Amino acid sequence: MSASAIPNHLKCPRTLPAQLPSTDFQPPYPSFSVRFPENVSELVLAIIGAQFKPGSEPGAAVGAARSTLTAFLTSSTSPTLPSFFEWASVTDNKGFYNVTALAYWPSRIAYEAWAEQSGFRKWWQALLPEDSPNGWFLEVFFPTTDRFETLFNTDATPEGSAHMGEAMSEAVQEHGYWGSMRDRIPLAQTDGLAGEKAPPGDFTAPAAAAGRVVVPGRKNLAVIRSGQDWLDTTPAERVLYLETMHPVVIKGMDFLRDHGKGVGCHSCRFMEIVDPKTAKAEGIDRTFGLAYFDELASLEKWCKEHPTHLAIFGGFFQYAKKLGNNVTLRVFHEVMVLEPEQQYFEYVGCHPGTGMLAASQ
Ligand code: HEM
Repeated sequence: MSASAIPNHLKCPRTLPAQLPSTDFQPPYPSFSVRFPENVSELVLAIIGAQFKPGSEPGAAVGAARSTLTAFLTSSTSPTLPSFFEWASVTDNKGFYNVTALAYWPSRIAYEAWAEQSGFRKWWQALLPEDSPNGWFLEVFFPTTDRFETLFNTDATPEGSAHMGEAMSEAVQEHGYWGSMRDRIPLAQTDGLAGEKAPPGDFTAPAAAAGRVVVPGRKNLAVIRSGQDWLDTTPAERVLYLETMHPVVIKGMDFLRDHGKGVGCHSCRFMEIVDPKTAKAEGIDRTFGLAYFDELASLEKWCKEHPTHLAIFGGFFQYAKKLGNNVTLRVFHEVMVLEPEQQYFEYVGCHPGTGMLAASQ
């Protein structure tokens, strides 16, 4: 008997049908969702990044930017430090090196208190693009828990928002079929979560980076962080992952990054988790795709129909078969569908293809 991915306190009579194939559907393999305490009704994920021109990594400026952010994220003057944060990096398709903190709080109040009391907000507002050797970006999401879902293929290793959970669920029923992501989002019981379909021209990046740009939020923007962790795989599985799955995931993420506009993807970064001290990815063996879609339906369509995710998906079942279904690769994702006021995007001295800047004109 499986649990529901939607916790009891967020269940309501459906006005929209579930995609679940049948009420007694049993998924072919187990997966789990994070359970948050009932009094947690909202989460925060802040992506606070620094961007460096080609050729600057791993220079002193990278270390200095990370030290600056670390001081705020660990500040002794703030009683509401993030529940969890980690570092990730990516070199983007313009050759810029981006390093970001991904920090989580259990409420907007806690995040705002941190921003104020750590001195982060004051520092951020005073940043002058012309005085800084690098660009900076701040992308903050404030999903209510009814607009949020997670799926993990193991209940033993927390990632991201799971660090704020009180437990993992029992194996959930709503997975293993297309559309299950939507079935796991509590609000989708009664809301189709339609977004703003962006006309193609909407994706044209501004010709030059402006100094400081705030990009407004969009109705029902769909954000996915989809992670892969091969740290604890056996030597044979590691080789298989790196030779057969990893390149296919990169291909899918490159497609969304470079050609996403055709499928409703505003931004995609395929990031490596890096060591907090060295900012190096070696030995960490964890990556994630971070993508922003104009609406959930576009993300669903890319997964279900586009050759790049179908190659990942199909490749995974071959991979599992080769391992006799004894897979130790860990995968997870967290997905949120956000109201405009649940998003904050600000860019200081970044190139025009950065994050939601690319969709801002
Ligand atoms: C090694 C990497 C990946 C593997 C093995 C993988 C495999 C899968 C599998 C097996 C499912 C079905 C899960 C279930 O319902 O039980 C799935 C669904 C999904 N995947 Fe991937 N995937 C990978 C990477 C990604 C990435 C990087 C993204 C996007 C950034 C992504 C987006 C999605 C979404 C949104 C769904 C849910 C679709 C729905 O329920 O309608 N995946 N993937």
